[in-house]
Amino acid sequence: MGRTAREIVKANLDEVIKDLLQAYSDEWLAHYQYWLTAQWIRGIDADTLRPVLLKQSMDELKHAEKLAQRIIQLGGRPVMDFSKLLNTSRCGYIAPPEDPTDLKKVVEDVLKAEQCAIRFYNQMVEKYRATDVVTYEVFEDLLEDEVEDEEEWEKFLAKL
Ligand SMILES: [Fe+2]
Ligand SMILES: [Fe+2]
Repeated sequence: MGRTAREIVKANLDEVIKDLLQAYSDEWLAHYQYWLTAQWIRGIDADTLRPVLLKQSMDELKHAEKLAQRIIQLGGRPVMDFSKLLNTSRCGYIAPPEDPTDLKKVVEDVLKAEQCAIRFYNQMVEKYRATDVVTYEVFEDLLEDEVEDEEEWEKFLAKL
């Protein structure tokens, strides 16, 4: 990051990187949760849910990418040790349900992840609005996407 870019960050750099790392870990875990669930599910509605899970899984990976780029820009390192991902995350990881035909549980678990992300990113948007505009914008973009995701899953839940 250049000198001027560093100057405009008024927030504590270590703290910004720590928050970004949490979000980065959450996004990776959501990516994996949705992708694996898409492979695992069975049943009449599974074919409807699968493409949506795969699409959102890729969206979460793109979120992780944006966060990784901001972390590196700020002089930090994304989580290099894969086994540390869970410890660094805020929202954690929810494994696909034992019963691959329990699609209601699938949607409820995805909603939990999305809701946790919405609360977290909303806090981050408030936190960095005035102190780190670039980080603020990253979180704002993500927040907008997660709000749309939640809406999509709530519609599914109503139909199941
Ligand atoms: Fe995301
Ligand atoms: Fe999402």
